Amino acid sequence: MKVLNFGSLNLDKVYTVEHFVRAGETLSSSRLEEFCGGKGLNQSIAFARAGATVFHAGCIGEDGEKLRRMLADNHVDTTFVRMMKQTPCGHAIIQVTGEGENCILLFGGANLCVDRAFADSVLAKFGEGDFLMLQNEISNLDHIIRVAHSKKMTVALNPSPFNSVITALDLSMIDWLILNETEGMGITGESDPDRITAELLNRYPAMRIVLTLGSKGAMYADRNNRERHGIFKAPVVDTTAAGDTFTGFFFASILNGNSPAASLRIASAASAIAVSRKGAAPSIPSAQEVADSDYLKPAQK
Ligand code: RIB
Repeated sequence: MKVLNFGSLNLDKVYTVEHFVRAGETLSSSRLEEFCGGKGLNQSIAFARAGATVFHAGCIGEDGEKLRRMLADNHVDTTFVRMMKQTPCGHAIIQVTGEGENCILLFGGANLCVDRAFADSVLAKFGEGDFLMLQNEISNLDHIIRVAHSKKMTVALNPSPFNSVITALDLSMIDWLILNETEGMGITGESDPDRITAELLNRYPAMRIVLTLGSKGAMYADRNNRERHGIFKAPVVDTTAAGDTFTGFFFASILNGNSPAASLRIASAASAIAVSRKGAAPSIPSAQEVADSDYLKPAQK
């Protein structure tokens, strides 16, 4: 079984601010830092740091060599990372406050150069039983899902960011959906977590769902089982990529044969470490750091 993550690669420009810029306001930031990011790249690195072997597919501009290098340095296979001429890389302008909250403005750039021919050429190298991870920051998502489903790949979707692309998708082709409450509300119209998962299972009975609940933790639901896990308390420095860390660690654990309950616990520990560090990809811990963390130590009597 091979793991393919077809997703975005972004250059993140992170501005430290007192508060998010308001309409009509000019605000000075106290610091600018640049990190490798993009939900796709972050999740590939999380898979790899969690111990999975992962192929990343996606497009970068000529200014994106450091993104490819970041993946390669983390043992992600970059055979399917394509460099586009005369198109800038995707980038994100991220404001981070002293409380570690963020808001993100995206520019798709080369991420939107994923065309059907490129998608087909990548997917031709994968087949039945292989695992495909997707987010919503690249073009032709609907085509990729259709082709992967027809090849009997296992398709996992993180419908983030949520927009009209997601509402137009046929989610019956999705095996795993990993989403937050806002995305759950956008898809189902429900705000209560139990009602979100119930409505998803009503529409898609075979779906396996992971719903992240911010400070309330995360839950797993399928038609037979439900699990819930709280958060591990951590000093919050920057929440960017905490969700991506959760996603990579959760699925790496599932693909390693662990139960959803055990995987929620590992992913929660990994994302607790990620929020205590600055940046997107650089904040993602290794499997060893997660295993050695106090979060996963048995409770003292
Ligand atoms: O999930 C965090 C990521 O969202 C950032 O790295 C940014 O690039 C955006 O894609």
